Amino acid sequence: MRWGGDMAAEKRIAVYPGSFDPLTRGHLDLIQRGARLVVRLVVAVLVNSAKEPLLPEAERVELVARETREESRVEVRAFHGLVAHLAAEVGARWLLRGVRAAADLEFELPMAHSNHLLGQPGVETVFLPARPELTFISSRLVREIARSGGDLKPFVTPGVVKQLKAKVRDK
Ligand code: PNS
Repeated sequence: MRWGGDMAAEKRIAVYPGSFDPLTRGHLDLIQRGARLVVRLVVAVLVNSAKEPLLPEAERVELVARETREESRVEVRAFHGLVAHLAAEVGARWLLRGVRAAADLEFELPMAHSNHLLGQPGVETVFLPARPELTFISSRLVREIARSGGDLKPFVTPGVVKQLKAKVRDK
């Protein structure tokens, strides 16, 4: 597949990959802003080999799908394998990632360079800055707070709070 130099609508497809364990208010904001830049945004729930997930994949997909149901340009799916291969499968030219602080780039830049090499010619990672009021939020903190019964409202939507409470109660 080769991309032309123009920005034709049919090429404005992006993949937003992540582990979404769970979806945070930061992720949701990025999905909403990202969706306005493209004609189709594929939110892909993937495996991060460095993390042991709290929520099973099916629940993560379901939560993201439920919380983004109003977004007509967004579709949610699980994917096993490399993001670059998913991008080729769905015809996405862009990979979307959020950056909360400079420290995020230590992880993000090697990944962006790798995905550039692994992907179809012209595949680019596009970074959106997290909104300042959401930069402190991370899924890791949310999992920690959930396990200890803290107030999750500032971090995640009510639907996610409910799911997490049920999850830690059942454990
Ligand atoms: O939300 P996260 O945990 O920061 O997301 C990391 C994720 C899932 C995007 C990353 O681990 C990933 O892309 N995993 C799939 C394998 C892959 O394509 N890795 C990047 C190229 S080496």
